[in-house]
Amino acid sequence: MCGIVGYIGHQDTIEILLKGLEKLEYRGYDSAGIAVRNQDGIHIFKEKGRIADLRGIVDQSVEAKTGIGHTRWATHGVPSKENAHPHQSASGRFTLVHNGVIENYEQLKREYLLDVALVSDTDTEIIVQLIDLFSKEGMETEEAFRKTLGMLKGSYALALLDSEAAETIFVAKNKSPLLVGLGDDFNVVASDAMAMLQVTDEYVELMDKEMVIVTKDSVAIKKLDGTAVTRDSYKAELDASDIEKGTYPHYMLKEIDEQPLVTRKIVQAYQNESGELAIDDKIAKAMDEADRLYIVACGTSYHAGLVGKQYIENMAKIPVEVHVASEFVYNMPLLSEKPLFIFISQSGETADSRAVLVKVKEMGYKALTITNAPGSTLSREADYTMLLHAGPEIAVASTKAYTAQISVLAILAGVTAKARGIELDFDLVKELGIAANAMEVLCDAKEEMEQIASEYLATTRNCFFIGRSVDFYVGLEGALKLKEISYIQAEGFAGGELKHGTIALIEDGTPVIALATQESVNLSIRGNVKEVAARGANPCVISMKGLESESDRFVLPEVHKLLTPLVSVIPFQLISYYAALHRECDVDKPRNLAKSVTVE
Ligand code: G6P
Repeated sequence: MCGIVGYIGHQDTIEILLKGLEKLEYRGYDSAGIAVRNQDGIHIFKEKGRIADLRGIVDQSVEAKTGIGHTRWATHGVPSKENAHPHQSASGRFTLVHNGVIENYEQLKREYLLDVALVSDTDTEIIVQLIDLFSKEGMETEEAFRKTLGMLKGSYALALLDSEAAETIFVAKNKSPLLVGLGDDFNVVASDAMAMLQVTDEYVELMDKEMVIVTKDSVAIKKLDGTAVTRDSYKAELDASDIEKGTYPHYMLKEIDEQPLVTRKIVQAYQNESGELAIDDKIAKAMDEADRLYIVACGTSYHAGLVGKQYIENMAKIPVEVHVASEFVYNMPLLSEKPLFIFISQSGETADSRAVLVKVKEMGYKALTITNAPGSTLSREADYTMLLHAGPEIAVASTKAYTAQISVLAILAGVTAKARGIELDFDLVKELGIAANAMEVLCDAKEEMEQIASEYLATTRNCFFIGRSVDFYVGLEGALKLKEISYIQAEGFAGGELKHGTIALIEDGTPVIALATQESVNLSIRGNVKEVAARGANPCVISMKGLESESDRFVLPEVHKLLTPLVSVIPFQLISYYAALHRECDVDKPRNLAKSVTVE
């Protein structure tokens, strides 16, 4: 979702901003812009489309020492040049970029800005016009900025230029992520460290309702009441090569291939000196004391949560509910007496999940966040964190984070079981190792998957994924992957539920991808495959070794029955990838989607 960069120093500001925005492309966006300030004033360049389009219109001969940039994912107003950021105040003095949503912008417009001719449909423009208004009333910029911030309801990460202030960027944050990066004779602003890793790896976190005055050699953090805040910086533990594609044509393919390695890394990260799986004692205690667990997540992370429920209930024998965050926040179920909340979020910044976290913390409950992003908002605000160790995931369609979440959930379940005195009848470390090897075999099966994609999905308008038990959950993820990147209408269904409605959609040739990895439901899922085949569907059965039938399209290597999602999802990821390629879709940056969804 929207991304912000800012630079103040002596290097090539325009190029640093553009490169920074390119690094933020993965978050998802539909327009982009930059503004730079020099002795002639402020120069704004913005364009609908990709950063490459923006590059096409930027006047590289403009020399400047200060600038801000933005990628916009439209919320208020269509994607267009007018609605793209930066936005400028009517007087031309102030220029602003914003990530977030201002909930009371209509009211502010009515109360303060009826006389101002607005040029965009955005909530952001209201902010910059208010700052202008208060400054015209005689306030210093810092004061006008602070007064405006005090009036805003909603979420914001902001970077503001004042054409009359010497080389300064005014910054503020509430709920939306924003960091200040420190350099030698320069400083930067970024939505995430990846954007500015090219110039610095030293960052300072900002907390909600803080503002910062950034110059090239100073960073002054203040609360909204003006009180100064001091905070240590940290080194971003990111390897620049982790965020490069290398020889891969797409990040998604690279990230699919990284999955076996990530699984092995996770096992290592959670092993103690004697090789046993271990988690923070406090987490094991909180799990043991809970009478019910509530897993809250969105998208792919929600699908991982469904698998996690199976793990925790099977191994640790604690009842689990899994909820979509955006529903949970407004429609909370009756909670048990001693609940523990588990938030699963690759980015650790998803606004829907955060809204639930804030609410349950207010209610006095404990929360564990499972995330790929140490220091992210959901990690900071929860009581406990378990990290995914998956390395940066850049492709919008989540792949390695999903299998990493499943591995971490398996470890959480296994260790909790042990803490509760429950002996597992299998060796989880060994079985995860076997699963990682099987994942490797699947990553090598690209040709077969490309073949399946071209046979079943090259021209279809829809596709169904069916499965039973845990295969149903993986089918949901398969359908999400396929629709996200190929735009084929794809849905996942429980095999037994088809006949209660969905089977009406089956026509001659409709592809139905069925997963059969569970012995207990093998016969019944095959019955469902026959039902759809009898109505003209084109079934593609992917089964597990030992359960296969002659007509199955692909047979997965055998892994422990609880760990099948780690391997069965890989064909779905690859099939989706090749289907998207066949249809010439932008695999890493699918339309309308954002990687880090920082608005509710
Ligand atoms: C967005 C992404 C999905 C992701 C979901 C939850 O919709 O496009 O890939 O699964 O957000 O993100 P999170 O970072 O909380 O796991």
